[in-house]
Amino acid sequence: MSRILVTGATGNVGKHVVSSLVKAGVEVRALVRDPGTAALPGEVEAVRGDLSSPETLEPALRDVDGVYLMWPGIPVEPRVVEVIAGHTKRVAYLSADVADLADGERPAIFHQEIERLIRKSSLAWTFVRAIDFATNTLAWAGQIRQGVVRMPYGQARRSLIHERDIAAVAVQALTSDGHEGAAYVITGPESLTQADQVRIIGEAIGREVRWEELPPEVAREQLTAAWGNAEFVEARLRAWRAFVDTPERVTDTVERLLGRPALTFRQWAEEHVDDFR
Ligand SMILES: NC(=O)c1ccc[n+]([C@@H]2O[C@H](COP(=O)([O-])OP(=O)(O)OC[C@H]3O[C@@H](n4cnc5c(N)ncnc54)[C@H](OP(=O)(O)O)[C@@H]3O)[C@@H](O)[C@H]2O)c1
Repeated sequence: MSRILVTGATGNVGKHVVSSLVKAGVEVRALVRDPGTAALPGEVEAVRGDLSSPETLEPALRDVDGVYLMWPGIPVEPRVVEVIAGHTKRVAYLSADVADLADGERPAIFHQEIERLIRKSSLAWTFVRAIDFATNTLAWAGQIRQGVVRMPYGQARRSLIHERDIAAVAVQALTSDGHEGAAYVITGPESLTQADQVRIIGEAIGREVRWEELPPEVAREQLTAAWGNAEFVEARLRAWRAFVDTPERVTDTVERLLGRPALTFRQWAEEHVDDFR
């Protein structure tokens, strides 16, 4: 039986990677910063390590056949890729749809850098380039409880992806052949306006929730205060504005790889009703 190391195992995608591997009968080791507090299934071996300190990763990497790698947004540590390549052959890296991200957007820069490091290593790699996660809409939870979401660009059409589909693609890449050197851009099955996403969440929780258009200049001020990164806010506003005229793309990659349709935003919302109530 093979053994896979899952980084970010307690995160949005990693928790589904863990459960999917366990279900497939694969031995799972989780890299966590605190094995004492990490909530993980009983069958999973939790090993302490920190991606910001490459030397702490050795025990977790011992005798693993592959790694699900996510990067938590800390400064890039090139040694991490070297250490992984020194212990295993295969990596599935959770990346972003870098082509669609604006220059000033920090995540694009670190994803591109890590992809570059992996490409020039000896690893057999698969890049799982996910479009924005459905879970990002949890940021609206407070406003949804009040019955109205005030944000700009309600007509921006997004193809948000269910995190379980991202995990399923990563697991497929790690446990079956034919994915080496592939960079999969994965999206949800349809593009929906942000206003529709809010309506669908309302339907899932059984309450009417409406979208109220916030002028971009007011949003700029509020989001900069909340996120503390003016450049990132600008990039987000630019992307949303662009998705009003040109809907975010929808790929059939999830369906092609998994042999079933990608999960819908409605399915995601129905699974998260408790988070919005
Ligand atoms: N949100 C989006 O729309 C989107 C779209 C495309 C790509 N992405 C990318 O997805 C990644 C985030 O994935 P996610 O949402 O599944 O994760 P997440 O929910 O943000 O979870 C963070 C995970 O990172 C781990 N972690 C944090 N700092 C760490 C460190 N120094 N060393 C080791 N582990 C550390 C945490 O582990 P412990 O606390 O258990 O140690 C936790 O499991 C980012 O790279 C982001 O750019 C996001």
